[in-house]
Amino acid sequence: MKFSRLTLLGCFLVITWCSSSAQELHADLIPKPNKVVINEGALSLDQSFPVYYSERFMELSQLATDIPGMRISSFELFKRVKKQQPTSIWILESQASDNLRASEYTLIINPRGIVIKSPDVAGAMAGMQSLHQLRMLQDSNALPFVEIQDKPRFGYRGLHLDVSRHFMPFDFLKKYIDVMALYKFNQFHWHLTDGAGWRLAINRYPELTSKAAWRPQAHFQDWEQYGKRYVAQGTPNAHGGFYTQEQARELVAYAARKGINIIPEIEMPGHSEEVLAVYPELSCTGLPYTQNEFCVGNEQTFTFLKNVLDEVLDIFPSEYIHIGGDEADKSHWKTCPKCQALKEKLQLQTEEELQSYAVQQMDEYLQAKGRKMIGWDEILEGGLTDGATVMSWRGEEGGIEAANKGHDVIMTPQSHLYFDFYQFDPRTQPKAFGGYLPLERVYSYNPVSTQIDADKAKHILGAQANLWTEYMPNPQQVEYMAFPRALALAEVNWTEQEQRDFPEFRRRLQKHYALLQDLQVNYYRPSFDVQYDVVYDSAKRSNRITLSSEQFDPTIRYTTDGTDPDNQSPLYIAPIDLAVSATLKTASFLDSARMSPITNVELDIHKAIGKSVQYNTKWNERYPAQGERTLVDGRKGGVTYQDGKWQGFTSDIELVIDLDRREELRRVAARFMQMPGPGVFFPGSIKVWISDNGKSYREAGSLVPHVDANPGVLDIQSFEVKFDKPVMAKFIKFEAKNTKNAFLFIDELVVD
Ligand code: ACM
Repeated sequence: MKFSRLTLLGCFLVITWCSSSAQELHADLIPKPNKVVINEGALSLDQSFPVYYSERFMELSQLATDIPGMRISSFELFKRVKKQQPTSIWILESQASDNLRASEYTLIINPRGIVIKSPDVAGAMAGMQSLHQLRMLQDSNALPFVEIQDKPRFGYRGLHLDVSRHFMPFDFLKKYIDVMALYKFNQFHWHLTDGAGWRLAINRYPELTSKAAWRPQAHFQDWEQYGKRYVAQGTPNAHGGFYTQEQARELVAYAARKGINIIPEIEMPGHSEEVLAVYPELSCTGLPYTQNEFCVGNEQTFTFLKNVLDEVLDIFPSEYIHIGGDEADKSHWKTCPKCQALKEKLQLQTEEELQSYAVQQMDEYLQAKGRKMIGWDEILEGGLTDGATVMSWRGEEGGIEAANKGHDVIMTPQSHLYFDFYQFDPRTQPKAFGGYLPLERVYSYNPVSTQIDADKAKHILGAQANLWTEYMPNPQQVEYMAFPRALALAEVNWTEQEQRDFPEFRRRLQKHYALLQDLQVNYYRPSFDVQYDVVYDSAKRSNRITLSSEQFDPTIRYTTDGTDPDNQSPLYIAPIDLAVSATLKTASFLDSARMSPITNVELDIHKAIGKSVQYNTKWNERYPAQGERTLVDGRKGGVTYQDGKWQGFTSDIELVIDLDRREELRRVAARFMQMPGPGVFFPGSIKVWISDNGKSYREAGSLVPHVDANPGVLDIQSFEVKFDKPVMAKFIKFEAKNTKNAFLFIDELVVD
């Protein structure tokens, strides 16, 4: 029987739409559906709905009861269209004439009720989640009349959580799953084991959780600093915990009900200090607390791992099982007789090949059990095993290489998807792992790199964000780091690239902040701080300043006369052009109240802009910024050294600026960044020489930057060498000493 049920239903049903007050109706879904048509009118929820479902959607249809304020009168298997049908909810298998492909759905809300159609459970689930979200976005007790046609861009839409660094309460995991489901994630990567604690009960190896799940210190940092020891469960004040197998099964079922698969990760061969602390016979040394990697020359290692996997496979029906594979030290293998004997027996050349052998054991074991193995991109080193899916984290390179070789890939690059990185100026944020990953950068991510061959793009299954919890001691902090960035990722994974637009996403996001508040999610609130971009126009010898904040449609005021901006200062409405050196002071306002600190934008129209620079020492190839133009382009770096404005050096800096003609000079100022976390420090000293001919130089001044014994997480300072009296010169030689043998990051060299 082929007919369009939607049309038929339309003929019979009683019209019960309410003109739902003057309240605005919202259909700003995240992720953005392929197509949304909003029609006049709304469906009142001041009534009870019968739910009719196709057989395969029986379980899924129950999710209608989870939707707040939605009253369900009955559930009934859909058989045929009835006369005098009350306003209803239909969750129906689509027919060929609906032209819906796998995972696609339609959601229609009209006077007759609500119809979700899809050919499969994945699609119907997405439709149900759209309905749930649509409900949560409304202020009134009604749903807008809409017609939504939708499908996901990627089949793998993941979020990860590390419960080893800090153990997370079981109930929080359910909340995490709830929010994931609402934003159409379908994979939860559960990082269950790591050096900081084993978190899943394994019946055969009870000491993993009676000993290696507990530590004397609550916070990872304290534990790491003071000995990295484990204590037995029940030790007074022991911190940690683990999940029972019953809990893990419960979570698997809980997530499955909402369309989310759980991928467990059991780390090997590295990140395994906790196992080796309680089963030291599995390490090369035979001693606890000596190494992070299993002894791969010891057959018992594989017996252990396979026994653990047997129990894991019994709990988790997931097709994919994650075996880690990242950051294994491997150094003990070099001197371990067993490992070396294995290497010789297998005629392997390197320790990477030993790791590859170990990973292959896991791959074969999992394949024999009908599962697929995922590993971090290090599994590419020493040769990738046949069935492996690569999770690309150190960048996209591993993923690109694997996809081009025909392997499936999940993209989770640090550059865009490590949610343990700062999401705003680190000086304003709780301590995080490092890096800098604001919402817009997450949103800008496209999982299919242009370096992937067109016929290999299908191997990119999707993208995932990782939440490593070194600096997330509790659920509140996990939520703070995960949201709203996870909403940006949701759209990266779901919405077609050409349909994505950050300003438009930000507009929709406003309503989702309220939704997250309703769910009591401790999300990161958008900052009021004013951010700026300065572009120097060399033809006009003028700076163009663009101001913004993370607030939607912010009120920003500024001054250029050195006074602090107040509620009477000029309002920023469009980019400002300034053809003189000045300090622009700016802040955000809400009505008459200043909502942010004052941001000082130093605008220098200086003598070196656009002049040629000869480098006697070379920048680090990873941080060239704009090459030779970087330090004399009038632009100043922001809060991240990855913004293409900061130039990085691992050596001293020595360079010569040629001013084209003799100029009167009073000072040279150099702007540097300091960020001790990733090893970025101010220079030990700065020196300036001048010359008329570029051959013979005389010293014009020097300084030793103040060294802070306890530097903050981020510092940006301009170090100024002022000359005793004005001098005339054509050439300036500049030197900054890299006394800490770390990174120097410099942006502009201002010459006046
Ligand atoms: C990782 O971040 N070590 C996968």
